[in-house]
Amino acid sequence: MNRRDFLLTASAAATLPNVSRAMGQFDLIAEAVEAQILPAGDYSATRSFGFNGGLPGPEVRAQQGQRLDVHLHNKLDEGTAVHWHGIRLQNAMDGVPILTQDIVNPGSTHAYQFTPPDAGTFWYHSHYLSHEQVARGLMGPLIVEETTPPDVDHDITAILADWRLDEAGQLTDDFATMHDVAHAGRMGNFARAFLPDLLLQEGARIRLRLINAATDRIFPLTLTGLKGKIVALDGMPLASPREFETIDLAPAQRADVIADVEDALEIAMATREGSYLLGQLAIDGEVEPRASAIPTLPSNDVPHPGNVAQDLVLTMQGGAMGGRHGGDNIWAFNNLSDLQPAPFASFQRGETARIRLVNDTSFPHGIHLHGHHFFEVRDDGSHGDLRDTTLVQAGETQDIVCVFDNPGKWMLHCHMLSHQAGGMKTWVEVL
Ligand code: C2O
Ligand code: CU
Repeated sequence: MNRRDFLLTASAAATLPNVSRAMGQFDLIAEAVEAQILPAGDYSATRSFGFNGGLPGPEVRAQQGQRLDVHLHNKLDEGTAVHWHGIRLQNAMDGVPILTQDIVNPGSTHAYQFTPPDAGTFWYHSHYLSHEQVARGLMGPLIVEETTPPDVDHDITAILADWRLDEAGQLTDDFATMHDVAHAGRMGNFARAFLPDLLLQEGARIRLRLINAATDRIFPLTLTGLKGKIVALDGMPLASPREFETIDLAPAQRADVIADVEDALEIAMATREGSYLLGQLAIDGEVEPRASAIPTLPSNDVPHPGNVAQDLVLTMQGGAMGGRHGGDNIWAFNNLSDLQPAPFASFQRGETARIRLVNDTSFPHGIHLHGHHFFEVRDDGSHGDLRDTTLVQAGETQDIVCVFDNPGKWMLHCHMLSHQAGGMKTWVEVL
């Protein structure tokens, strides 16, 4: 694909995402699929991976506090495992091969059972060779509904991703090349949002759940046709809804927007060449708009930080134009690359810790902690947003504060999955 093709956008794409709703007990089948990623008619389907016949995988829906019982069947020719991103679950269900479970081999089945404690927008994805398997499509939305959901006409999930495709619309298999890993990661030459097939009414109120499922791309998003606010980030409600012009979503980050429809919805990203349309929903008819303000979502029950018992520093190192470091892969944290036998830190259960994330590299990194949410500390020292993935720009520092209350072994890594493959990962232990 050349640059002109890259500027081709998803506007003409008429494909349906895999919209089956899975609740309670269900089967998730990892398998090879053919998916219409590029606009139908002009391009053939792409041979890829998916769940239950398509990509993204089915939208998994649970009620807050409702037990999910998922049977993962691996019908691929390679191993896999599924991670439930952002869910504060039991360690054994976290889906990280070697650290929390064995690889699910071809032909075998693995049961995941957990009760999501928090309502919000989450997602699931492969955590085995994830820089490759997520790029191939092993990902899907995981929505945990509030007991009393906000009053909206449509609850819309938009999965954002990009693909690197050849002239025939097939995935190139150049995963984890030295060049991509050492730079910003493996960027696709085509990007789009997967949206449900529906029409909007002018005046309707919608909830839009944006999920960045790309392996390495940060999406600088603009939403046109809506008037509303951000109500949650990474599944966690904001104390009060927030105005926005653009929304920057690092890989794995989510944003929930509640808004009133004023015109056709266009989800686009800013690029150097201009605005790139990722997806749209057209208007059909109108309804009486609501007079009420954009609601605040009920907060989740995340433990409040106590006195800081440990003050830690985690320095990101390496990559192109980065300094030397002591690790033996392209990227490192504190001079160590890849998962080491010993954790970066150990915590007594319930301990509050502050971690200074120092980006001593020439690229941004989206740092994700498993099994917990943490507060981003603002410049004035106060606790900011509650997140599971924080974007730290090149040369910058971000402090986070977390109550480590979930026992087990938890990964802490860059969610630019090519960087993770290049060594930017570690783990912590909660005793
Ligand atoms: Cu979204 Cu370690 O993963
Ligand atoms: Cu990174």
